[in-house]
Amino acid sequence: MADERFAFVVVSNRLPVDRVVAEDGSASWKQSPGGLVTALEPVMRQTEGAWVGWIGQPEIILEPFTHSGLRIVPLALSADEVEHFYEGFSNDTIWPLYHDVIVPATYHREWWDSYVAVNQRFADQAAAVADIGATVWVHDYQLQLVPRMLRLARPDLVIGFFNHIPFPAYGLYSQLPWRTQIIEGLLGADVVGLQRVSDAGNFSRAVRRLLGYTTRSPYIEVPRTDDLPARRVIARAFPISIDVEAFEELARSPAVQARADQIRAELGNPKTVMLGVDRLDYTKGIGHRLKAFSELLDEGRLNVADVTLVQVASPSRERVETYKHLRDEIELTVGRINGDFGTIGHQAVNYLHHGFPREEMAALYLASDVMLVTALRDGMNLVAKEYVAARHDEDGVLVLSEFAGAADELRSSLRINPHDIDGLKDAIMQAVDMPRAERRKRMRALRKRVRENDVGHWSRSFLRALSDASGGIDRLGADLDPLGDLEWTVERPPKP
Ligand code: F6P
Repeated sequence: MADERFAFVVVSNRLPVDRVVAEDGSASWKQSPGGLVTALEPVMRQTEGAWVGWIGQPEIILEPFTHSGLRIVPLALSADEVEHFYEGFSNDTIWPLYHDVIVPATYHREWWDSYVAVNQRFADQAAAVADIGATVWVHDYQLQLVPRMLRLARPDLVIGFFNHIPFPAYGLYSQLPWRTQIIEGLLGADVVGLQRVSDAGNFSRAVRRLLGYTTRSPYIEVPRTDDLPARRVIARAFPISIDVEAFEELARSPAVQARADQIRAELGNPKTVMLGVDRLDYTKGIGHRLKAFSELLDEGRLNVADVTLVQVASPSRERVETYKHLRDEIELTVGRINGDFGTIGHQAVNYLHHGFPREEMAALYLASDVMLVTALRDGMNLVAKEYVAARHDEDGVLVLSEFAGAADELRSSLRINPHDIDGLKDAIMQAVDMPRAERRKRMRALRKRVRENDVGHWSRSFLRALSDASGGIDRLGADLDPLGDLEWTVERPPKP
């Protein structure tokens, strides 16, 4: 490995493979289900690229290896770094701050020190494996300092950064004691990609306010500094998506369709199955959803004999205090609702605190009449797109928070403000009572939109912008979309 060099390097906090340890102690690797790896796989293969990241467990030092054709370069984190860099600064400082301080952000100087040190290690590792003039694509809020660190070490590289979560308004962002360092870190990239047009606006505003640089969307003019020459950076929205075709194919498989029927039967064949699918995170608005649902039961607008809510809440960041509290709060609420409204044979909420394989998720989507996405703030929300991709039967109603990035594209959903509980309740009732013709019309429009921007389109568009920003040299030789395709098309919701 010592002198292995790659023309394309992806850097993300988590690797695209999970380490599975069998009962006999032997370890193997399984590709993680996320869309990112599916999106980047073709480019990775074409260019024989490498992926730098952490395996998700502390204190495990591993040599680089190849997994189904992908070159994997693992980076080890100590137990102390997991606590300070990952659980602390990434998930208890940046995460709440960038999600509009739904819970307070915690600022600790030792967490920041760890964030700087770990970002430097990621940058060093990427610099060590990137070939001369290589393209390096850095992902997400855990690694915002990497672009500048990498540029200082390797000015020959083409560097992209994509933020998977929102970028907050300046009034909130300005709380961060290290606000200038983070902005400077990001501006080390040639292209800074964000989910929504509003995120890109927030980022450019922060650049103007903190550094006084000239911005003319999508360009930011970065003047010469002591250590770097003057450059032009692009900051713009690239809404991420899923592998639509693969997901639809899965949902069309006879086994998944049979499983969907079985799920409905196991639920007692209610008239309406509602579904929520989230990481157990306070940004997802699970409590707001449960409140609306229990009030509808209480008021008799919904009846437990006719309706059930399946809530999948996959475990997440379980050692972080706010996540522990959230779990207690949600489980208490679910217990109360079931105690108050359940009958023998009819459970109001089917609460599942685990993750499920993709096949089971596709079956759940097919089995559900109403999908509830009530995020208080969400970069994109790929669950909403998965639901739409799975519904090849052109049925099902998507209730979607306007605070999720997906709301910009999925305008034929029933868009809601999750803080407005009465509005949310009315939207749920509208979904439950919606005639088949309107369900079909809305779902068709949603499916068209999701198909137009799948994850392949997203990654090709980003890489195209990166290649244009670096002088138009298509260094990757990949099949990239022309930039013109990036323009935002807003689809009109059908008249109810
Ligand atoms: O996009 C949001 C994100 O934080 C990713 O960076 C991350 O891989 C995923 O959600 C799950 O979070 P975690 O890696 O903390 O389990």
